[in-house]
Amino acid sequence: MKTPTRICFLTLLLAILCHGYSSRAEAQSQLAATPPMGWNSWNHFADKVDDAGVRAAADAMVASGMKAAGYTYVNIDDTWEGTRDANGNIQTNKKFPDMKALADYVHAKGLKIGIYSSPGPKTCAGFEGSYQHEVQDANTYAAWGIDYLKYDLCSFTRTMREAHTSDNGHQLMLDAYTKMHNALVATGRPIVLSLCQYGWQDVWKWGPSVGGNLWRTTGDIEDNYERMANIGFGQLNLAKYAGPGHWNDPDMLEVGNGGMTADEYRTHMSLWAILAAPLLAGNDLTKMTPETIAMLTNRDVIAIDQNPAGHQGDRISALGMTEDWGRPLADGSWAVGIFNRKDAPAEGVLRFEALGLKGRVHVRDVWAAKDLGAMEHEYRAQIPAHAVILLRISK
Ligand code: GAL
Repeated sequence: MKTPTRICFLTLLLAILCHGYSSRAEAQSQLAATPPMGWNSWNHFADKVDDAGVRAAADAMVASGMKAAGYTYVNIDDTWEGTRDANGNIQTNKKFPDMKALADYVHAKGLKIGIYSSPGPKTCAGFEGSYQHEVQDANTYAAWGIDYLKYDLCSFTRTMREAHTSDNGHQLMLDAYTKMHNALVATGRPIVLSLCQYGWQDVWKWGPSVGGNLWRTTGDIEDNYERMANIGFGQLNLAKYAGPGHWNDPDMLEVGNGGMTADEYRTHMSLWAILAAPLLAGNDLTKMTPETIAMLTNRDVIAIDQNPAGHQGDRISALGMTEDWGRPLADGSWAVGIFNRKDAPAEGVLRFEALGLKGRVHVRDVWAAKDLGAMEHEYRAQIPAHAVILLRISK
């Protein structure tokens, strides 16, 4: 080939490669058009998660009706990792004899499978992280058939501290997340990227720029009302950072784990739906009461969470310990939760003009599955301790 021809050829090749990469990167950013729904092993099983448990979760997701309600991802959290082989390839530990076979099993049920790693040398539970093996790990995940990666900062904080100035540390973190994003995109397999760094350094401001489809906005949730409420009601002013493909993540659900009352779990679900939060069940799906299944699969609540307009909600008003949180929906209606955070019953009020709605509105009580008819000015009700009335309000 003559030199000019060779230059032309190389330019063309580069253009084709770049185009391929950018359209794959675009596809990546469109992966989570609505907040991801599924299950994650951590809240209930922690280090007890194993192959049989993940298969059982997939089976139960189908049998319980959760799959039909929209739950899709079966996510393995920390403690699946083994050591690296002589070529540096990550291997599973004894609990997961064959990750590819497990992924095939989950896929055969029409579900997707997720995995967990860290940009640091070690994960939070002290297992092997992806540090300096990002491309290799992304390729391994793609070869296994992984569809979702939760990438948890953990021991990378040490690398950041060693950068001496906080600005350098911050940049190192951005670079680490970008590196994994690029590596995932380069595999050609659509893999959702879930950032986990506990909401530090206003992650919502830069999460999309490093390829995050969702990012944790807080530290870990726990199965008690105080922690759940602190996290959920702490999500003020974050709405503008969420939207299709990129979501604030106030952590996984605790519904069904036993530490809260039914009212408190309904508060948890309602708040997460208004926040357009990922709905990742964190309970044992093989042992659910009918009440837990009903809460997790309530179609009207899920429809609020998954509303295609993708507008995250925010607090509309607060009166003492009762708070109204709402989000506008694609059809012009509103979903509003009137939450009583007190330890005793309290009266909750919603003034419709706070939603910009004048005149008569139609009100539906979502959890009661009951149309309350037309109303004017306001809705008022007595709300039990730690409970919610979730309304859908339309003109
Ligand atoms: C934490 C993370 C939890 C869980 C755990 C695993 O940092 O916030 O959700 O993934 O690590 O070790």
